[in-house]
Amino acid sequence: MKTNVLMVCLGNICRSPLAEGILKSKTDSEKVYIDSAGTGNYHVGGLPDPRSIAIAKKHKLDITTQRGRQFTVQDFDRFHHIYVMDTFNYSDVISLARNEEDKKKVKLILDEIFPGENVDVPDPYQGLAEGFKNVYRMLDEACEIIAAKLKDKN
Ligand code: 4NP
Repeated sequence: MKTNVLMVCLGNICRSPLAEGILKSKTDSEKVYIDSAGTGNYHVGGLPDPRSIAIAKKHKLDITTQRGRQFTVQDFDRFHHIYVMDTFNYSDVISLARNEEDKKKVKLILDEIFPGENVDVPDPYQGLAEGFKNVYRMLDEACEIIAAKLKDKN
């Protein structure tokens, strides 16, 4: 059976599309299904932010087939792992959880690098291109660890 992984941020245009693209590039699509969503509905149906598209392209990843969508409670049924980018996303997703099983699926993505330290992937939306470089580096490191864990399981 495939393992389904969901990446979640606020807008689903900056951080989680990058996380989706990066983890896809490190995993076997026959074994792992990856998607992303936003807790907000501002960018439903939209392309990733041009700055995310650009930094992905620099690393030879194409994320332009992705479109924004909002996280729904049904995502708890469809996904085994839900990685959120920051503690606001964590609270928003946890507030929709129906039970302990749902809650157990939700994890801050940088917990993979800094366990238990509650480190956020900073929201780069209002900032400069430099912020996107930083976000890419953090997500690449976290996704490397996630991909290795998924490989061990398969
Ligand atoms: P993201 O960044 O959560 O990484 O996709 C944001 C994108 C858009 C907005 C906020 C954060 N917004 O408020 O429109």
